[in-house]
Amino acid sequence: DGLNGNVTEEEAPQGRILYKGSQLWKAYIDTAEKIAVLVRLRDQNDITMWGGNTTSIDILVKPASVEKVRTSLNQANLKYEVMIEDLQKAIDEENPPEEQESDDRRGHRLTWQSYHRLEDIHGYLDYMAQTYPDLCSVRTIGNSVQGRPIKLLKISNGHPGNKAIWIDGGIHAREWISPATVTYIINHIVLNYESEPRYMNGVDWYIAPVLNPDGYEYSHTTDRLWRKNRGRSGYCTGTDLNRNFGYKWGGQGASKNPCAETYGGSRAFSEPETAAIQRFITGTRAQWKAYISFHSYGQYILYPWGYNRVVPPDHKDLETVGRQAAAAIRSVSGSSYRVGPAANTLYPAAGGSDDWAKGTVGIKYAYTIELRDNGRYGFVLPASYIDPSAKEALAAVRVIAQAVERI
Ligand code: ARG
Ligand code: ZN
Repeated sequence: DGLNGNVTEEEAPQGRILYKGSQLWKAYIDTAEKIAVLVRLRDQNDITMWGGNTTSIDILVKPASVEKVRTSLNQANLKYEVMIEDLQKAIDEENPPEEQESDDRRGHRLTWQSYHRLEDIHGYLDYMAQTYPDLCSVRTIGNSVQGRPIKLLKISNGHPGNKAIWIDGGIHAREWISPATVTYIINHIVLNYESEPRYMNGVDWYIAPVLNPDGYEYSHTTDRLWRKNRGRSGYCTGTDLNRNFGYKWGGQGASKNPCAETYGGSRAFSEPETAAIQRFITGTRAQWKAYISFHSYGQYILYPWGYNRVVPPDHKDLETVGRQAAAAIRSVSGSSYRVGPAANTLYPAAGGSDDWAKGTVGIKYAYTIELRDNGRYGFVLPASYIDPSAKEALAAVRVIAQAVERI
């Protein structure tokens, strides 16, 4: 996901940042010179980079720079496609209001037809705990910088000795498909509990849909493209929570500059959000076997290490299960997900939760799953894709749960 910030465009009276006239382009890169052209444009603040792979990079072009960037790419013979002509229009259209059943009948306001605010997501977790008290319990594992609760739902049949699987979402604020997918997975597990096979109902699930609640709310109210948490560090705001975990903290791909999108914080676990996760996971008597963190976008199933281009001793097991998960996704929806170790497959980035889960806690199956899409909409994935995207993510989770059963 995108890493190069300073995207402030134009401030509306209410303080909402608008992206009118910003364009998302897919730029095809086949030589080092072409990459250098993009890097130069980024350093001159004409573009920011959202994502990409070895053949193309998704760039967000600032309105005032559209002509300059067009000329530069043409001169370099760099081919590109315009994916989004007006980002603000795409933002305005991604999450249309839905007709809602009356809440008193349903008991919660969450749906998977639109992206919801934190209040609806937390209300849903509370509702699940109230409605299925023998199966579900909700707990607040900590509070964000601004004091919002970080809520976690445990789903368990209460049998002692169950293995445990962690699932989280929303560590990066703007990746809205992630909390939506994670709550979909909760809903599926709970509503189908009795009819599910043992690998699904014989494990303890610990599921936290929104690890960065301040950032998530901020991405709804003020800046749709906000990534970090909302902690102040000097004259800039926000730490990249997925650079703040304490395994090889501060290495490659994490910035020391508090204004950067990938600022790793002042020290490992400096942020209350990551400290809460650390406290909970290391302080809970659970037999952790899998740790799955949902992000977007790019369609990847990544495993450690992320900090460097090396792999753990049991990388073959992670690769095998990752490929099985990708195959399951393909058979559900036809989508293709790339599988591999994070640093080699995406980019090196130290301080990620997956590396900490595996390297420090010793959880065997640690994955970061980058959900849809491939850069058609990027972070601004229309809400109509929640359902298909969540269904394929669930297929991947099932595969990982089966691997856990076999350990
Ligand atoms: N898009 C994710 C990020 O930038 C990828 C994380 C992969 N894992 C890692 N340890 N680098 O945070
Ligand atoms: Zn992310």
